[in-house]
Amino acid sequence: MNFKDKIVYEIYPKSFKDSNNDGIGDLKGITSKLDYLKLLGINYIWITPFFVSPQNDNGYDVADYYHIDPIYGTMDDLDELIKESDNRNIGLMFDMVFNHTSTSHSWFQRALKGEQKYKDYYFFRKEPTNWQSKFGGSAWEYVEELNEYYLHLFDKTQADLNWENPNVRAELIKILNFWIDKGIKGFRFDVINLISKDAFEDDDIGVGKRFYTDGRKINQYLRGINQQSFEKYDDIITVGEMSSTTIENCNIYTNPDNHELNMTFNFHHLKVDYQNKEKWTTMPFDFRELKDIFNKWQLGMNDGWNALFWNCHDQPRSISRFGNVTKYHDESAKMLATAMHMQRGTPYIYQGEEIGMTNNYFTDIKQYRDVESINYYHILKNQGMSENKIHEILQAKSRDNARSPMQWNKNGGFSDNTPWIQMNSNCKNINVENNLNNPTLSSIIIKNL
Ligand code: GLC
Ligand code: CA
Repeated sequence: MNFKDKIVYEIYPKSFKDSNNDGIGDLKGITSKLDYLKLLGINYIWITPFFVSPQNDNGYDVADYYHIDPIYGTMDDLDELIKESDNRNIGLMFDMVFNHTSTSHSWFQRALKGEQKYKDYYFFRKEPTNWQSKFGGSAWEYVEELNEYYLHLFDKTQADLNWENPNVRAELIKILNFWIDKGIKGFRFDVINLISKDAFEDDDIGVGKRFYTDGRKINQYLRGINQQSFEKYDDIITVGEMSSTTIENCNIYTNPDNHELNMTFNFHHLKVDYQNKEKWTTMPFDFRELKDIFNKWQLGMNDGWNALFWNCHDQPRSISRFGNVTKYHDESAKMLATAMHMQRGTPYIYQGEEIGMTNNYFTDIKQYRDVESINYYHILKNQGMSENKIHEILQAKSRDNARSPMQWNKNGGFSDNTPWIQMNSNCKNINVENNLNNPTLSSIIIKNL
């Protein structure tokens, strides 16, 4: 299957299009916009998770991998979306969150009741290590009933799965095959290079990352799911999200001879505005470093393949970051698109990027919805940082910058109701309708490139 000439469009369903006016985007909303996506010229849609979930991390906390969360619709809505995408020759890629489940998942609930079989699906320990969660605070949560701690590299409601346990791997492969049989054409694997954990030691030089990033058995696990799942079908496209990885590892993950993944996302180019590698800081981006990183990954991924991107649901909007929104909005959007689409790799466009959607510039913590942003607001406040400085950082770094609703027309056009997160008021000028009526404005109408 050739994935090298394809273009993927990422949809964050909560913020894409609301079909029933409850303020939350949904599957029917996506179906209603397929003609627009076809016009863009994309080949695949990656939809971030819409499975049953308490939504503490907007669906990255999955409680049931086989069912659709009612806020997004029903299985019939999904069947319709699959059929209508198929009619337009667009494939659907699902987002598989296999590093952890929600603590509401029945496996975790049974573990909490003391069932050993399910405790072995997770990491329960008498003694925690000093590892930090990526969303702030300890990576271990204490459970009084069991007098034990469980591991969560993300929110405390996202418990890490134990891939060492063959039963866990078998469950996850079953889920993949269930969705492939339904007509899904690809998968994006969430933080997949963190799944191999077998050493639980205190980290005296860091926050624990080196004990689980690109872990010892990662290649074996990826080969395993490949062999027992997508390799049996010849038209499945796969991409892995790699946290703090290396080019050496990404070459291994995506070398076709290794039968692991088609391509990988890495984030090195999106840390060039981090002061001392710390996200919760502000700094003008380092252009030289950005160029060096692109150079390295363009020339160095000889055995494998890159997934190219500037934007996703976890990053502030690239145009606000690397462009000049006030003076050169359109030029900045086109410049960034050109710089990405001319590179070697498979490009991923994040919803709204094609019209140059910008950051939100929220001024009140009440406007934020993202668990990571809210946690860090409190962490920075406790460290004594001023309210103004915290807002300046959040305005530049918060993931909510990418999550405001898609701007369809001058009134927003996302929903007739109050959206779950505020619409950016610049929808008056920056919107899809405007771009479609003024083709020279469009930063990414791929067909016309
Ligand atoms: C990935 C997702 C992000 C999520 C995290 C935990 O980085 O893209 O949105 O919060 O994993 O699942
Ligand atoms: Ca809705």
